Amino acid sequence: MNFNAVVVKNEKLAENIYLLRLKSEKISHNAAPGQFVNIKCCDGLDTYLRRPVSILRTHGPENTFDIAFMVRGKGTRILSCLKEGDAVDCIGPLGRGFTLPEKGERICVVGGGIGIFPLLYLLEKSAGAYKAAFLGFRSGGLVVLGKDFEKAADQLIISTDDGSFGEKGPVTTPFLKYLEKERPDRVYTCGPAPMMIKVADACNERGIFCEVSMEQRMGCGIGACLVCVCRIKHNDDWAYERICRDGPVFRAEEVIFE
Ligand SMILES: Cc1cc2nc3c(=O)[nH]c(=O)nc-3n(C[C@H](O)[C@H](O)[C@H](O)COP(=O)(O)OP(=O)(O)OC[C@H]3O[C@@H](n4cnc5c(N)ncnc54)[C@H](O)[C@@H]3O)c2cc1C
Ligand code: FES
Repeated sequence: MNFNAVVVKNEKLAENIYLLRLKSEKISHNAAPGQFVNIKCCDGLDTYLRRPVSILRTHGPENTFDIAFMVRGKGTRILSCLKEGDAVDCIGPLGRGFTLPEKGERICVVGGGIGIFPLLYLLEKSAGAYKAAFLGFRSGGLVVLGKDFEKAADQLIISTDDGSFGEKGPVTTPFLKYLEKERPDRVYTCGPAPMMIKVADACNERGIFCEVSMEQRMGCGIGACLVCVCRIKHNDDWAYERICRDGPVFRAEEVIFE
C-alpha cells in the first residue's frame, strides 16, 4: 500500500510554509478533494509515526500532486529539507473527502491557516459552481496561495487577525456577514476548531449543508489504531468514528466538537 513518491520540487511559499510537488501516478489519478497522504518523514524514532498532510491539487498529465505544509515540528522540518529527486514513502490517497457540489450550486469555503490547503483542491474540482472563498490567517506574512485561490474562486475575501493584510479580525466575521444576505447551497470548512464550530453552528441554524474537515493527531492513518477518533451523532446517540478512515470530512451537524 505504501510506495515512494519522488520529489519534483520543494518551494518555500512563506516563512515556515512549503509546497512540495511529488510524482506519483497512483495519487495524481485517484485522489479526491479532502483526502490526504500519510508520509514517513525519516527512519528515526521521533518520526516513526507518519504525518498526515492534505492533497493540495493533482496534475494528471504529469502524474504529480502537491502538498503544502507548515513546519510545526521534527517531521515537517524534515519534509521542508527534501530536494528534487529524493524519494518519499507515502500512503494514500486516504480518507473520505468532500461531497462535490452540483453544477450551478453556490458554495462557500471557509479556511483558517493550514486548513486552507484542502479547500483549494475542492474549489478547483468544483467546476460549474459559483464559489466564494473566505480565508483567515494570523498575519499578512502567512498569506499564501492568494493568486491560486483568486483564480479558483469567483469571490475571495482574506482576513488577518492583526489586520496586516485584508480585513482585520477573524475570518468568521466576513463569512457571517455574507450569510446575512446570501444563502449558499453548500459550505465547507477546515481550520482551527473554534472557527469550524462557528461556521458549523451558523450553517446548522440556517439548515445549510455544511461539511467540516477534522484535524487530529494520527497513529496509523488507516483505521487500525483508534488514535484519531472523534464523537459523531447517530440519531439520539453517538459513536466514536475514525477521522483517518471515516473522515476527515464529516457533515457539520453530525460532529460533537469537544
Ligand atoms: C487529515 C489531516 C490533514 C492535514 N493536512 C495538513 C496540511 O495540508 N498542511 C499542514 O501543514 N498540516 C496538515 N496537517 C497537520 C500535520 O499533520 C501536522 O502539522 C504534522 O503532523 C506535524 O508534524 P511534525 O512532526 O512537524 O510536528 P510534531 O512534532 O508532531 O508536532 C508539533 C506540534 O504540531 C501540532 N500538531 C501536530 N500534529 C497535529 C495535528 N494532526 N493536528 C493539529 N496539530 C498538530 C501540535 O501542536 C504539536 O505539538 C494535517 C493533519 C491531518 C490530521
Ligand atoms: S490514525 Fe489509526 S485509526 Fe485513525
